[in-house]
Amino acid sequence: MYSVPKLEDFSPAAIDAAAAELLAALRAEAETISGAKAFEEFRNRWMARKNGVLTQVNELWLKAAPGPAKREVGQRVNALKTQAEELVSLAAERASGSAQDERLRAEAVDVTLPGIERPLGVRHPVLRTLDELISVFVKMGYSIADGPEVESDYYNFEALNFPPNHPARDTQDTLFIAGQEERAQRDRLLLRTHTSPVQIRTMERITPPVRVICPGKVHRNDAPDATHSPVFHQLEGLCVDTGITFGDLKGTLDHAMKSLFGSAVKTSFRPSFFPFTEPSVEVSISCPFCGGRGCRPCKQSGWIELLGAGMVDPNVFGFVGYDPAKISGFAFGMGVERLTMMSYNVDDIQQFFYGDMRFLEQFA
Ligand code: PHE
Repeated sequence: MYSVPKLEDFSPAAIDAAAAELLAALRAEAETISGAKAFEEFRNRWMARKNGVLTQVNELWLKAAPGPAKREVGQRVNALKTQAEELVSLAAERASGSAQDERLRAEAVDVTLPGIERPLGVRHPVLRTLDELISVFVKMGYSIADGPEVESDYYNFEALNFPPNHPARDTQDTLFIAGQEERAQRDRLLLRTHTSPVQIRTMERITPPVRVICPGKVHRNDAPDATHSPVFHQLEGLCVDTGITFGDLKGTLDHAMKSLFGSAVKTSFRPSFFPFTEPSVEVSISCPFCGGRGCRPCKQSGWIELLGAGMVDPNVFGFVGYDPAKISGFAFGMGVERLTMMSYNVDDIQQFFYGDMRFLEQFA
C-alpha cells in the first residue's frame, strides 16, 4: 500500500518523480475497487482532510520544502492534487456504475422462461346448450320464467292434471321431502320432477298472451347410469293466446330444431300421452349426424326423439282460472343433458356431474 515518502531532494525533477509514483499508485488502487463501501474507504485514504494521502503530501513535501524551492514545489503539488482529484472522481463514477450494474443484474428477468398459466373458465357444456336453447326462444319472443326446485304436490302434479293417486304419477319417480304426513297431500313438498310447475305459477301470475320458457334443474328418483341421472335440466315452454293451434306448435318446434341443428333437419310428431296436454306428441328430429341414413347415435333409425309436447289440456286452464272456451295453447319440454350429449357426442350423462377436469377441459 502506498505511503508518502519524506523527501531529501526538493528539485522539480525529484518532485515530478515522486508525484508520478503517487499517481501510479492511486491509479492502480482505483482500478481494484468495486462497490460503494470500498470506494468510500478508498476516497478517505487519499482525500481525507485529516491525514489523507494528499494532506500528508502537503505536510511532507510542501511545508518541508526549503524556502527558495517552495514556489516550484507548491505549483507541482497543486497540479498533483488536481490530477488526483480527477482520478478519484473517475473512480467514483465507475463505482456507482458498477453498483447500478449489480442492481440491474439482480433485477434481471429471463423473458424466455415459461409464464404463469392462468386457465380461462368456460361455461359448463350443459349450461352452454341451455344458453343456446334460450337464445333461440328469446328470438321468437319468449321470456324466461323461474320457480322453486322444492315444489308442492299441487304445482308439480295436481294443477298439471295428475289427480292424487293417478297412475300417471308413476312415470315420474319422485323424491319427497320427509316428515310431512301431517300436511294435506297438495301441500306436501317434493323435489320438482319437471319445470312444468313454473308454467302453472306463470299462468296464475299473468293473463294471456303468455309466451315463456322455463329452464331449470329437476330431480327424479332414477338410479344413475349412462343415460339417467337423479338430477338433470329441462327447458320447457308455454304459449297461450286466443286461436293457438297445433300448427303453431309444429311450426315453433320445427323452427327451433332447425335453429339448433341446422336447416336440413326434419321434425316428426307422433301421438303420445301427458296428463297436462291433449293431444300430446313425442317430437323427433331427423338424425343430424347421418342425415337420416342411420348411425350409432340414432341407433340406425335415422331419427332421434328429443321433446315432449302437446296442446294444453283444458283442465289445466281450469286450475289457473283461464277460460278454455276462449283461449288455447301449447307446451313442450326437453332434457338439456340429452341434447348436450348429442351435440358433443358424449356417451355418458354422468360425465356432466363428475367434475372431472379431463372431461370439462375439452370444452375450453
Ligand atoms: N313435463 C314433461 C316431462 O317432464 C315434458 C313436457 C312438457 C311434455 C310440456 C309436454 C309438454 O316429461
